[in-house]
Amino acid sequence: MAESMKGLHRSHRCTEVVGLAYGTEVTVMGWVQKRRNLGSLIFIDLRDRTGLLQIVFDGDRCGAESFEKAGSLRAEFVVAVTGTVEKRTAAVNENLATGELEIVAKSLRVLSEADTPPFEITENSQTRDELRLKYRYLDLRRPDIQKNLILRSRVAGLMREFMSREGFLEIETPMLCKSTPEGARDYLVPSRIHAGHFYALPQSPQLYKQLLMVSGYDRYFQIARCFRDEDLRADRQPEFTQADMELSFANVDDVIDVNERLLQYIFKEAIGVEVKLPIRRMSWQEAMDRFGSDKPDLRFGMELKDVSDLVKGCGFGVFTGAIEAGGTVRCINAEGHGDMPRKKIDKLVEYAKGCGAKGLAYLAVNGDGTYKSSFAKFMTDEELSALTKAAGAKPGDLLLFAADKNKIVWNVLGALRLMIAEEDGLLDPNVYEFVWITDFPLLEWSDEENRFMAMHHPFTMPVEEDWDRIDSDPGSVRAEAYDIVLNGTELGGGSVRIHQDHIQEKMLEVLGFTKERAHEQFGFLLEAFRYGVPPHAGLAYGLDRLVMHMVHASSIRDVIAFPKVKDASDLMTDAPGRVDEEQLKELYLQITEEVE
Ligand code: AMO
Ligand code: AMP
Repeated sequence: MAESMKGLHRSHRCTEVVGLAYGTEVTVMGWVQKRRNLGSLIFIDLRDRTGLLQIVFDGDRCGAESFEKAGSLRAEFVVAVTGTVEKRTAAVNENLATGELEIVAKSLRVLSEADTPPFEITENSQTRDELRLKYRYLDLRRPDIQKNLILRSRVAGLMREFMSREGFLEIETPMLCKSTPEGARDYLVPSRIHAGHFYALPQSPQLYKQLLMVSGYDRYFQIARCFRDEDLRADRQPEFTQADMELSFANVDDVIDVNERLLQYIFKEAIGVEVKLPIRRMSWQEAMDRFGSDKPDLRFGMELKDVSDLVKGCGFGVFTGAIEAGGTVRCINAEGHGDMPRKKIDKLVEYAKGCGAKGLAYLAVNGDGTYKSSFAKFMTDEELSALTKAAGAKPGDLLLFAADKNKIVWNVLGALRLMIAEEDGLLDPNVYEFVWITDFPLLEWSDEENRFMAMHHPFTMPVEEDWDRIDSDPGSVRAEAYDIVLNGTELGGGSVRIHQDHIQEKMLEVLGFTKERAHEQFGFLLEAFRYGVPPHAGLAYGLDRLVMHMVHASSIRDVIAFPKVKDASDLMTDAPGRVDEEQLKELYLQITEEVE
């Protein structure tokens, strides 16, 4: 039967008893990890968020009633134990912080009994994800997940402390707002009072933080929940958290400076990792050309090589055709993979096709200097040797070629590069390679929409010396935008914002906004800018992703207390759920189609 804790006061958490003098009386409370009966002695491992602590019930020292209760304890019962700290009589347990001591119990109260949990609460337990998420409150008891969330709390605390020291004000912005054009689909909330009208949950606090600059708050910071209705991946959730900031009278270097020091501080304090400053910078163009990605993983080489000039006159139609159509031919060198079996190469080809390639050509350099290749027969020996030389291939290496539009070539080789590095064990999680990617294109052509879209968002400042090409060659205009990338993940991104009306108006025009639509969507921002706007710039981190990297989690779910699964549902609460007719009516809504 569950007892109350009347008259009891927890004196220490489990591992906080370490360092107390032997003989000190303590009261500890927590969950039973396991019980062992050894005749006249009963041992239990007590667990709380700090770790495990061994308790001994000795019939002679704790009284018959407590001894009897101890004998019936089962896993996950919640108990309170009063006793004294003693040196362990049995062997020291090196694996536990409390391994040298034990609590010799005087009394025990069972605060709560427990059903047998659907899985054992242990570190790294191999339970199915669906079960873990259905019983997330039990899963959250596991020490590895607890460690992640404790670190997350610490990181958020360190950020607040640092930002406050740097003169940033923490200001909350609304959750019920107007749609912000961040590029993903909005989560909408119907209004009860305004029939047929909807709020949007924020994709980011972007417009509000810019308005705060107009209002003179100068430096803003917020740990903000954001919502994006997009397809989920291992590092994406429909609701996630940004560490968001904006600075007035600031340029790219100002933003980078404060953020480099922030990163250095939190990595040092939270996980003891030294981030060397300055963090290197790389233009978007260089990142794409060398690594095929705007979030390059710099823990290893295997860089892309453009060999278009070498093959433009060769007899292989796949290569020449791609170049004639305005594309390029590039390759990577999978060093030491020259003996890759045909089956495995076919797998790479399939993978490349999954990334949008029409195919993947290969050239393996054999030990005797001959080649094994899908296209060698179309080339002369001179051409082949020039190609291997340019690609830096030695006997035993395997060159992989993609020929297509640049965008596809980058995408394919960038993905293959990562896949091969992963197989080769080149991705050391304890190496932290940060890089700033700068000078992004301002605009990105969308085949789907048949127009230019903002690569970052419509308020991002173009690079001044490129601006006169906005009509003649809009795709070549760069932006004052930057991303901070760690080991192939975009941790955060931001930009200098447009603060001059003539640039903003032109930008909206290029993006295809009519004056009316621009006014309707963010007239309030444009109007605000008419009343004196400081030049400003900002950045936002994905806090979840940042913590993911610090704890080496493979899924973003492992650093979020109550995450959603791939189809954006919550297995524990069953959200999203149906609502009753009355609620719908009140919101002027009608379900027109039932989809199973
Ligand atoms: P951006 O859209 O690049 O910029 O988002 C900033 C960072 O948020 C993280 N992030 C996500 N994390 C988890 N799940 C998601 N679905 C998800 N989407 C984004 C990423 C990303 O780098 N307002 C601008 C910032 C600015 O300009 O100041 C913005 O939101 O780590
Ligand atoms: P095909 O002419 O389609 O039979 O292709 C001949 C070889 O070139 C095959 O090994 C294909 O995988 C490869 N290949 C086809 N298209 C491309 C491409 N766009 N880039 C690189 N290799 C390709």
